[in-house]
Amino acid sequence: MIGAKQRRILITGGNAGLGLALAKKLARRHTLLLSGRKSQNEVAGTLPAGAGYVVADQSEPENSALALVRGIRDFGWDGLDNAVLNAGIGIAAVDGVDSTDAIRETLDVNLLAAIMQAQALFPLLRKSRGTLTLIGSVVHKGSATIPAYAASKAGLHGFARALRSEWNGQVSVQVLHPGPAKTDIHDKAGYDPGRMRSLFLAPDDVASMLASAIAARRSPVTLSWVRYLNGGAYTGRRL
Ligand SMILES: NC(=O)c1ccc[n+]([C@@H]2O[C@H](COP(=O)([O-])OP(=O)(O)OC[C@H]3O[C@@H](n4cnc5c(N)ncnc54)[C@H](OP(=O)(O)O)[C@@H]3O)[C@@H](O)[C@H]2O)c1
Repeated sequence: MIGAKQRRILITGGNAGLGLALAKKLARRHTLLLSGRKSQNEVAGTLPAGAGYVVADQSEPENSALALVRGIRDFGWDGLDNAVLNAGIGIAAVDGVDSTDAIRETLDVNLLAAIMQAQALFPLLRKSRGTLTLIGSVVHKGSATIPAYAASKAGLHGFARALRSEWNGQVSVQVLHPGPAKTDIHDKAGYDPGRMRSLFLAPDDVASMLASAIAARRSPVTLSWVRYLNGGAYTGRRL
C-alpha cells in the first residue's frame, strides 16, 4: 500500500552515478524502480534495498520504452508519480569531430530513448498527475570536446519546453541541467578532465540538488557550483 506521501519513482540509469546517488537518497521514503543496460545479476548488491530493477537498453530506444512500461506493470504499479529520465552516455570526439557511430549512439541513448520513454510513460504519469524530469547538462549550451553529447542535451532542453506546454495541467515536465560531477561518465566517454576533476561536485550533493529541484517542479534548472555554494544541497524542498 502506497502511503500519502510515498511516491512511485522510476529512475533510468539508476544503477550507477547520479541516478544511483538519487535512488539511495530517496529509497527510505519512496518506492523505486530503477533501470539500466546491465543485467539484474550485474547490479545485484549495488541497488538500495527494496528497489526494483528493469533492464532497458537505450541504444534501442523503442524497445527501452516498451521494457520500462512492462517493468512498471510487472512491479505492480498502475501509475507513476515521478519519472526521472537520467540514463546517458558521452563519447569524446577526436579533434572535435564525432564518428557517425558515436553520433548515432549518443543521440539514441540520450535523446531518442528519452523521447520514446516520455511518450510511453505519459498515460501512467497522467493518472497520478505526476512529474517527468529530464536530466540534461550545463553543456546543452555547447561544448567543444563532446558536440554530439551537447546536441543531445540541447535536444532534451527543447523537448522539455515543448512537452511542458503540451502536457500543461496533466503532467509536470522539467529539465534539470547538472554541472560536472565525480561519476564514471567521463572515463567511460574516453575524456580525461585532468586536474579539473577535483572541482567536480560529489554525486551525493548533486543528487540532493536534483531531489529538491524535482520536488519544486520548476524548469529549466541549472545545478552547478553556484547553486551548491548557495546551499543548494542542504536547503530547498524535500521530495
Ligand atoms: N557526471 C557528470 O558530470 C554529469 C554532468 C551533467 C549531466 N550529467 C548527466 O547525468 C546523467 C547521469 O550521468 P552519470 O554521471 O551518473 O553517468 P554514469 O555514472 O556513467 O551512469 C550512467 C547511467 O546511465 C546508464 N546507461 C548508459 N548507457 C545506457 C544504455 N544504453 N541503456 C540504458 N542505460 C544506460 C548506465 O547504466 P549501465 O551501467 O547499465 O550501462 C548508468 O546507470 C546523464 O544523463 C549525464 O549526461 C552528468
